[in-house]
Amino acid sequence: MLRKRHSQAEFFKFLTVMLVAALWVFPMSAPAETAGSVRSGTPLNIPEILEDQSSDPAVASFELFVQHGRTEFFSGLTTETLGYNGSYLGPILRVRRGQQVNVAVHNQLGQATTVHWHGMDIRGEADGGPHQPIMPGAVWEPSFNVDQPAATLWYHPHLHGTTGPQVYGGLAGLIFIEDEVSDRLNLPKEYGVNDIPLILQDRNFQSNGSFSYQVNMMGLVPGDTMLVNGTVNPYVEVNQEYVRLRILNGSNFENFLLQLSDGSSFYQIASDGGFLESPVVRDSLFISPGERVEVIVDFAAAADTEIALLAGGQPVLRFYVLDSAGFDSEIPETLASLPEIPAGEQLPTRVFELQSMGLRGTINGKAFDINRIDESVNQGEPEVWIIRNVRSMMRSSGHPFHIHGTQFRILSRNGSPPPLEERGFKDTVHVDPGEEVVIRVQFNHQGLYMYHCHMLEHEDYGMMGQFMVQ
Ligand code: C2O
Ligand code: CU
Ligand code: CU
Repeated sequence: MLRKRHSQAEFFKFLTVMLVAALWVFPMSAPAETAGSVRSGTPLNIPEILEDQSSDPAVASFELFVQHGRTEFFSGLTTETLGYNGSYLGPILRVRRGQQVNVAVHNQLGQATTVHWHGMDIRGEADGGPHQPIMPGAVWEPSFNVDQPAATLWYHPHLHGTTGPQVYGGLAGLIFIEDEVSDRLNLPKEYGVNDIPLILQDRNFQSNGSFSYQVNMMGLVPGDTMLVNGTVNPYVEVNQEYVRLRILNGSNFENFLLQLSDGSSFYQIASDGGFLESPVVRDSLFISPGERVEVIVDFAAAADTEIALLAGGQPVLRFYVLDSAGFDSEIPETLASLPEIPAGEQLPTRVFELQSMGLRGTINGKAFDINRIDESVNQGEPEVWIIRNVRSMMRSSGHPFHIHGTQFRILSRNGSPPPLEERGFKDTVHVDPGEEVVIRVQFNHQGLYMYHCHMLEHEDYGMMGQFMVQ
């Protein structure tokens, strides 16, 4: 991963990397003694679940403070970071289907921001896109109703042109929606014990500890350090039981291919918008920026052993399996029933052509203009959207295409029915160069919304459009 460059900063970075590598092999930093075994690395951060300040069960009220902070990713080095209610990332907003949610967002950043609820099926004014800026010192108080299935969504800034750097600095958090289906299923449910969120992000650091956010003609320079929930070189102890992982690719620009180091499979139970109909056994998970994948990993047969989650073949999180039994949960054969897609429908159809060369890209030949509304859509009327990634002469890439204000269904990928893991609700879909993905989409609320590539530098540099639902 080290690139050949000869600046002093690079040299110090090299030293840091070697030091981290050495500590990996010789576990001397922060060893944690448990049951006679030594742990190397740092215990995985588990984000807090934000306290709901409403006593009325029909209402959830939250307060978010968008702020600067300092984070010690590497022992003895501080990094200037951004966070919600803390120094890096944000707490989990846990809500229930049917609830009214009120949030007060206090912007203490000293620069404008927005908070977008990625994946929420809500009206445009509450969506938190580029049209709802929160000025420095101001408070934004959106209110919306949760009317969609249990899912793991997330929130992050969305001001046009600064989404990339603000997310890189640390602004991101998860939203858990629970409902009767998630209540009823006997899935692992102990938060932080066998129901563990994983926010995956790649980062570059300078020798003084500060983030190194480098955009060039090709896009954002890939990070040489992986953070999981803001932890470098993390580990987590688990019991011999099923463990649910709610995985977010929280990277600005990088795709991840995830595997388990012992070659065992994941049981995928949910995609972006909630549960699949039944679990899908997968040996590896491809996840592009903005997407979520929920899996169950079976640690029941493993004891006193170490299994790593790999991204691109490199360990990013180590699970130490304790010699202790856990809870009696299961991998249900049936998870949820999804609405059937009517066969042979004739629906209004739109085409979205994605094209990029390195950093810059367009949708239908246009770069984003906040004063131009690209599409207008009727509320409540299903449509077919055809998303094509047009190969350009050089430096084209795959794109995670994301649509606000809805959860859609994939009808086909390159003319064939989608793979099982793409048959549930999605809000972001990866489309490789030369590929065509056809989706069925419907908007239940009114307002102005965005569609865009979720590689945040593509988005910031113009790969975004807007549509009005009325
Ligand atoms: Cu995750 Cu337009 O956003
Ligand atoms: Cu979104
Ligand atoms: Cu893109």
